[in-house]
Amino acid sequence: MSAKTIDGKQIAADVRRKVAEGIQQRIASGKAAPCLAVILVGVDPASQVYVRNKKNACKEVGIDSRSYDLPDDTTQQQLEELVDELNADPSVHGILLQLPLPAHLNGDEILERIRPDKDVDGFHAFNLGRLAQRMPVLRPCTPKGVMTLLASTGIDLHGQEAVVVGASNIVGRPMSLELLLAGCTVTTTHRFTRDLPGHVNRADIVVVGVGIPGLVKGEWIKEGAIVIDVGINRLDDGRLVGDVEYDIAAERAGWITPVPGGVGPMTVATLMENTLEAAEKLD
Ligand code: GUN
Repeated sequence: MSAKTIDGKQIAADVRRKVAEGIQQRIASGKAAPCLAVILVGVDPASQVYVRNKKNACKEVGIDSRSYDLPDDTTQQQLEELVDELNADPSVHGILLQLPLPAHLNGDEILERIRPDKDVDGFHAFNLGRLAQRMPVLRPCTPKGVMTLLASTGIDLHGQEAVVVGASNIVGRPMSLELLLAGCTVTTTHRFTRDLPGHVNRADIVVVGVGIPGLVKGEWIKEGAIVIDVGINRLDDGRLVGDVEYDIAAERAGWITPVPGGVGPMTVATLMENTLEAAEKLD
C-alpha cells in the first residue's frame, strides 16, 4: 500500500480562509478585529520562527497581533504583571505565551494566570479540565488541529484503536483526550512504556509527538493505518524530519502527514480559529 498524503498546508489554508471570512463578518457587524497578544521571552531561534509564523498568519486573516518581546532576564514578577495587564485589557481577546521559557521562570504558574477565556493555547487547567469533562471550550491548538486533519480523511473515528506516542502537556495528553472525545479507544504511550512497537502495530491511528527523529520505525505501522507525525526535528545537515521513519511508514500506512507541511501549519491555523472564537465569546 502507498499512503495518501494528508496535506496540512492545504487544510490549514482552508481553515485560515474560513477564519478570515468570520472576521470579515465580525467587522461588518461593527465589532473590532480580534486582537492577539504574543509574548516571547528570550531569543530561542525556533521560538522566534514559530512566533513569526503566528504573527504572519494573524496579518493574513485580519487578527491584530501585539508583540511583547521580552529580554532573557525578565523576572517572574514582570511577566506576571504583563499577563495581569493583558487579562484586564478589554481590547485584547487572546494571550499567547510562547514556550519554552528561560529556565529561571515558572511557566506553569504563568499559564495558570492567563484568563481561561483569553487562553487561546488551551493550556490553562480550566480549559484542559473542560476537555476532560467532554465540554471543551478553548482547546489546545496542535491536538485540535490534528482532529481537523483526521476529519479530512472522512474516516469514522468511533471505535478506532488510537495510539498516542508521547504524553506531554502540549501534545500527548490533550491529544489523548481529543481522540477519546471522538470515540476512539486510546492508548497513551510514554518513556516507561514497555512494548512501543507492539502498541504502534495495533493502531488504526498513530499520533506521534516526542521530538526524537525517526523514533517510530516504519515497519511498526499497521497496513492501512493513519499516521500523524507532530515532530519537527532539524538534523545536522539542515533537513527537517518528523518522529516517524517516513519513507517506510508511507509504504504501509493508508494516510500519512508529511514533515514539514503536515501538523505544523495546522497548529498556527487553529490558533487563528481559537483567537476568533475567544473574541466572539468575549463580546
Ligand atoms: N511551543 C511549542 N508549541 C507551542 C504551542 O503550541 N504554543 C505555545 N505557546 N508554545 C509552544
